[in-house]
Amino acid sequence: MKPFYSLKPIEMNIVLRPWQEADIASLVRNANNINIWNNLRDYFPSPYTERAAKEWIDINAAVSPITNFAIDLEGEAIGGTGLLLNSDVYILSAEIGYWLGEPYWGKGIATEAVRLMVQHSFDQFNLVRLYAAVFAGNNASMRVLEKNGFYLEATRKNAVVKNGVVMDDCIWVKLRA
Ligand SMILES: CC(C)(COP(=O)(O)OP(=O)(O)OC[C@H]1O[C@@H](n2cnc3c(N)ncnc32)[C@H](O)[C@@H]1OP(=O)(O)O)[C@@H](O)C(=O)NCCC(=O)NCCS
Repeated sequence: MKPFYSLKPIEMNIVLRPWQEADIASLVRNANNINIWNNLRDYFPSPYTERAAKEWIDINAAVSPITNFAIDLEGEAIGGTGLLLNSDVYILSAEIGYWLGEPYWGKGIATEAVRLMVQHSFDQFNLVRLYAAVFAGNNASMRVLEKNGFYLEATRKNAVVKNGVVMDDCIWVKLRA
């Protein structure tokens, strides 16, 4: 499938593209990881089974315009990034989310994927505000956002319960230029 954007400056060719049936094995391999799940909402499957992968791919195949993309490195889906479009009076806002397979952490890949997703989001949707909600302590994710020009707008005290622990989350924002 045709990628939406591609990258050349670092040596890896990262593209965002639609999820496809052929991604099931790599999706399970990369997503079935408690270190990823611990930083995401509980609706992210854990364990991440083949059935969950197929459901995710099927659901997204039916959505238009596409809001969830595979992060592709040389043909392999190594992570995901997506948009949750808001509604009603919040219709000009969307929440951005992302995750990456652990073997690929620390190489600048999420930073590039978020850059591509921000570009795509402001290009393709009538949005004035993108934001991310990051669990307190997820400093790698906050750094990814900071490197993409997001700013910390607020810390919401006790906003989240994850693994039975109540914690804060941090709202990072990027406004349309
Ligand atoms: C968060 C995540 C997407 C980051 O992916 P990544 O490809 O490793 O990120 P990058 O390499 O692009 O950038 C990470 C940055 O955080 C920094 N970093 C990593 N761990 C850190 C830590 N514990 N404290 C502070 N900074 C940290 C890195 O040094 C790097 O910054 P730099 O380029 O200035 O050196 C990845 O760890 C992940 O998928 N985590 C689980 C899911 C998740 O947290 N999703 C986001 C939910 S809001």
